[in-house]
Amino acid sequence: MLPRMTDKPFLKTLAGEAVWPPPVWLMRQAGRYLPEYRAVRDKAGGFIALCTTPDLAAEVTLQPIRRYGFDAAILFSDILMVPWAMGQDLRFAEGEGPLLTPIKDQAGLDALDVAAVPERAAPIMETVRRVRAALETDHPGRALIGFAGSPWTVACYMVEGRGGGEFPLARRMAFRDPEMFAAVMAKLESATLTYLLAQAEAGAEALMLFDSWAGLLSPSGFRRWVIEPSVRLATALRKARPDIPLIGFPRLAGPLLQEYAAAVSVQAVAMDTGMDPAWAARHVPPQMALQGNLDPQAVVAGGPALEAEARAILEAMRGRPFVFNLGHGIVPPTPPEHVAQLMQILRAA
Ligand code: CP3
Repeated sequence: MLPRMTDKPFLKTLAGEAVWPPPVWLMRQAGRYLPEYRAVRDKAGGFIALCTTPDLAAEVTLQPIRRYGFDAAILFSDILMVPWAMGQDLRFAEGEGPLLTPIKDQAGLDALDVAAVPERAAPIMETVRRVRAALETDHPGRALIGFAGSPWTVACYMVEGRGGGEFPLARRMAFRDPEMFAAVMAKLESATLTYLLAQAEAGAEALMLFDSWAGLLSPSGFRRWVIEPSVRLATALRKARPDIPLIGFPRLAGPLLQEYAAAVSVQAVAMDTGMDPAWAARHVPPQMALQGNLDPQAVVAGGPALEAEARAILEAMRGRPFVFNLGHGIVPPTPPEHVAQLMQILRAA
């Protein structure tokens, strides 16, 4: 199917057009650096409550669009809402990040209920519907991104039970008991496909697959646990929804980004902070959009350093389909006025 007609700069770019100045959105654009986010989060009484209360989740999704006019809104939720929807215990402890009851054995695996996902995730789909409707009326030209974590990255949290390190337990399970690990991954892959298709059905116009921990693997592990499941997911998505573009983000993949981009049917790849945009431009197909990759700490710093870094990325990307973004999520100490400074630079590009 041909990419559908659209006048949204973000979607045109994902369809392979070199729109200039490039469209922009920022990973974690809704979050603690915004006072209006903190106010709604306090009202919700917790992060999971916020993700599963459609009017509040829709509100925080739209806050950064109102404030900065980004070209895309990203659904406010979390990659760990898929294990939560399969029934795994999840909480977000203040200052500790996510905590889950780790999957250690067959009993832990058997307890994961893939069939429960549509019902448990229903409030999130309601958020998608509300945000899409609000964008069409109040922010024409802005697109809605849905997302999930990739099976590898989400499995890291599910087996480890927490983040904050290099996931030794998850990586060891992949070596010591590859059958058990593959079974966790298989359930997750199925739940993730259901979850992404439901977002498309509810009104998401593009989807992103976050593989934040892809770079922890050896090349053979990368092929087995990152590329292979991503190929299957992307192929199934293309088949069911050829109209919905997919962005892949195999963070810290280094030169394996080239293999990822060649194998996985994505319309764009997101570059992490350390990726050289000029290298990426030479090693991914020319019609495939690139997205990224300003260092989030440059936005905390602001001033001339922010301007120089942003301009260098623009220079490397001029003339090809490109979406400006960060190389990883925006961090809480970011002064909101530095994001405004960045927007001024980008809109004048
Ligand atoms: O604005 C957006 O980008 C949309 C919402 C979004 C969140 N998390 C909200 C969130 C998205 C797309 C994510 C993705 C996510 N979540 C990833 C992949 C991207 C990446 O950053 O590598 C990962 C690994 C997670 C898991 C996760 N969620 C962690 C490790 C943490 C704790 C660390 C932290 O920043 O607090 C979260 C919590 C989380 N997810 C917050 C937000 C806004 C902070 C929660 C709060 O308000 O206290």
